[in-house]
Amino acid sequence: MKTVLVIGGGGREHAIVDALSRSPQVGKIYCSPGNAGIAAQAENVPLKDTDVDGLKAFALGHGVDLTVVGPEAALAAGITDAFRAAGLKVFGHTKAATAIESSKEFAKRLMAKYGVPTAAYRSFSDYDEALAYVSGRLFPAVLKYDGLAAGKGVVIASDLEEARQALADMLLDHSFGAGKVVVEDYLTGPEFSFLCFVEGERVYPMPLSQDHKRAFDGDTGPNTGGMGAYTGLPFISPEDRQFALEEIMQKTASAMCSEGLPLSGVLYGGLMKTPQGIKVIEFNARFGDPETEVVLPLLRSDIYDIFEGVATGRAISQPQWSDEVTMGVVLASKGYPGHYEKGFAIEGLADVDAKLYHMGTALRDGEYVTSGGRVLMVVSRGKDLAHARETVYGEIEKIRCGNLFYRRDIAHQAL
Ligand code: AMP
Ligand code: GLY
Repeated sequence: MKTVLVIGGGGREHAIVDALSRSPQVGKIYCSPGNAGIAAQAENVPLKDTDVDGLKAFALGHGVDLTVVGPEAALAAGITDAFRAAGLKVFGHTKAATAIESSKEFAKRLMAKYGVPTAAYRSFSDYDEALAYVSGRLFPAVLKYDGLAAGKGVVIASDLEEARQALADMLLDHSFGAGKVVVEDYLTGPEFSFLCFVEGERVYPMPLSQDHKRAFDGDTGPNTGGMGAYTGLPFISPEDRQFALEEIMQKTASAMCSEGLPLSGVLYGGLMKTPQGIKVIEFNARFGDPETEVVLPLLRSDIYDIFEGVATGRAISQPQWSDEVTMGVVLASKGYPGHYEKGFAIEGLADVDAKLYHMGTALRDGEYVTSGGRVLMVVSRGKDLAHARETVYGEIEKIRCGNLFYRRDIAHQAL
């Protein structure tokens, strides 16, 4: 039996641990740092996801056969390079290949060079030049800080004053650190997420999904880490999907090989169906959160075999997926994504007849309490979205907590 180490500690990693626990090959699962819910299916290890040396020593000392990396910070810290150098198998891209997520400019340059459809752009390191360029263009203007900014590096400025403020933050005050700014055309249309397992030229697609970034119903309120997701997108036709697979995901995997930076993990296409066709909004170098929580429950194949194949450069058969669809709703602390209180008791979890992924809980005297902004994700499946929705909202009713809120309109673009 195989021993696996999963890096990370959110709902995404809970879904990965859950999928691994269904593998007939997997015996022991460690998760670092894990969370209170993950602890029911794996042994938590109290190391930070960017503590590469500590994690490497742990893996070497505990007979870990394979490590699966969740967060981009660990990839950007070079965990894959360090593990491989130590002879450890790891599912996750090298630090250099992670530039597809960690540098907007790298991603835009790659797409321009290889003809992957995306918004036209220019990049700037000088504030005055950037401002002059933006002044002569249509609004809204899309400004992207060129680096990891925890999801806060994108500003859609509706007028020149907003653009000036954002450029000053990014290029004069260095709010996220020193870096360039990418200015790109504003696109419109529904957004969706296309996650693929990628190993060099080999691309294994997962079901399409859609995230809900805004805090409140009707896509209003502040941006969050994601308030819910679902699979079974009716507005993406099989032809659209095929186009995205060949002209975006496969082409990008090949482009990375041509650049000498082959991928070996998940390529996440944040895509938009614009009136001019499907285009890339961004790439991520990892599983999406909360998309993973709705995608992986549909996997019928052995996920260990997929992870191990990608980690070692071995061809695998196309993963098999259920024909059902899933819907997942995030329960967040009141006040999130702003200030929120922690430590509220959560009751009724044992009665929930759905997948329950923990995002930010803790155990206090044997009882779960809230300990993060996003706290839990409840995921149901069904033959269609109407059924999945009925189940998921019915099951959520069973959860009692004095400080949680959730969106009641997940999948509204589909229903
Ligand atoms: P990103 O971090 O690049 O995914 O950007 C965050 C969000 O900003 C995306 O999910 C989109 O909703 C929006 N966005 C980014 N780029 C564009 C664009 N070129 N046109 C319209 N909206 C965009
Ligand atoms: N769901 C958005 C992300 O994982 O980046």
